[in-house]
Amino acid sequence: MSIHAAITGVGGYVPDNILSNKDLEKLVDTTDEWIRTRTGIEERHILNEAGKATSDLAVGAILPMLAKKNIDPLDIEVIICATVTGDYVFPATANVIADKIGAKNAWSFDIGAACSGFLYALETGARFIESGKYTKVLVIGADKMSAIIDYTDRNTCIIFGDGAGCVLLEPNSEGFGVLDSKLHSDGSGREFLQQPAGGSLLPPSVETVEARKHYVYQEGKTVFKFAVTNMADVSYEVMNRNDLTSETVDWLVPHQANLRIIDATAERMGLDKSKVLINIQKYGNTTAGTLPLCLYDFESRFKKGDNLILSTFGGGFTWGAIYLKWAY
Ligand code: UT7
Repeated sequence: MSIHAAITGVGGYVPDNILSNKDLEKLVDTTDEWIRTRTGIEERHILNEAGKATSDLAVGAILPMLAKKNIDPLDIEVIICATVTGDYVFPATANVIADKIGAKNAWSFDIGAACSGFLYALETGARFIESGKYTKVLVIGADKMSAIIDYTDRNTCIIFGDGAGCVLLEPNSEGFGVLDSKLHSDGSGREFLQQPAGGSLLPPSVETVEARKHYVYQEGKTVFKFAVTNMADVSYEVMNRNDLTSETVDWLVPHQANLRIIDATAERMGLDKSKVLINIQKYGNTTAGTLPLCLYDFESRFKKGDNLILSTFGGGFTWGAIYLKWAY
C-alpha cells in the first residue's frame, strides 16, 4: 500500500492572559451580547509578555507534544510554520522555532496563507512524507494576532486571539493519514482582508503608522459572504469525491472565524451538530492556529480510523479542505 502522511501527535498552546467580551466593552463600542450572537466568541487569549512572540506560542505547543511522544527534537527533519505574524519579516519563524526547541537537524520554513495557513502547511508536509525521503515532519499553525490588531477597531478586535497548535506527521502504510485535499487561492480577494503596510508595497514609515495601516483591515461582510460559500462548497466537494456521506464523516474540524460560517458549512454537508468541533468561544480566531488547536482540544474524542474533514477560509483569499483518516 502507498505511503500516507499520518498525524501521530498533536499539541496546542494559548497564553494565560484572557481578553473577554466584557473587557472589549471597555475598549470599543460593542457588547458581549453582540459578539456572542454574531460570532460565537466569548473570550480570547492574548500574549502580553514583553519579548514573547509567535515562536513562543509554537514552542509552547511543540515541546509538550514531543515530550509526550518521547521524541528527541534532533529527530525532526522538516519544520513548517504557517503564520502571518512571524517574529520577524525574516528569518522565518520556523527557523526561530527550530533553534528554540533544539531541532538542529531540521530544515525549516514558513508558509503564509492567513487562516488557511495550517491546511497549506499540512498539504505541503504530507507531500514530504509521501516522497519517502522524510519520516518526521512538524507542521505548525501559530499566530500572535494581537500584534497586528487595532484595539480601537470594533470590526476586527472582537474576532482575533493568539494561539498555536502543531502536528507531527509520520509515514503510514495502512491507509491512515491525509487522503485527499482541495486547496484554492484567489488573490483578487486581497483588498477585503489584509495588513496594508509593512511589506514592500507600503514599507513602514511615520505616515503608515499614523494612518494605522499596520493593523488588520477587514471588510467583514464581504469576507463573510465569500467564506460561507467557499468553505461550505469545498468541504462538500471533498466529502463527495471521497464517497463520504454525512453518516461516514465522523468529524468536521472547521476554521474558527465565525460560528455562523461553521454552521453553514456543517449544514451544507448535512452533518449532525455533534460531529462539528467548535472551540471558537474560548479562543476567537487564532488564524493559522485554529485547526491544530481544535485537533488538540478534541484529540481524546478521535478513534483510529475516524474520517475527519478539515476546512478553512481566509485572507488572500485562500481556502480549502483536507480529508484524513485518524491514525491512533
Ligand atoms: O478568518 C478569516 C476570515 N474572516 C472571517 O471569516 C470573518 C468574516 N466576517 C465576519 O465574521 C462578520 O462579518 C463580522 C463578525 C466581522 C461582522 O458581523 P456582521 O454580522 O457581518 O456585521 P456587519 O459588519 O454587517 O455589521 C452589522 C452592524 C453594523 O451596524 P449598522 O450599520 O447595521 O447600524 C455595524 O456597525 O453591526 C455593527 N457592528 C458592531 N456592533 C457592535 C460591527 N461591529 C460591531 C461590534 N459591536 N463589534
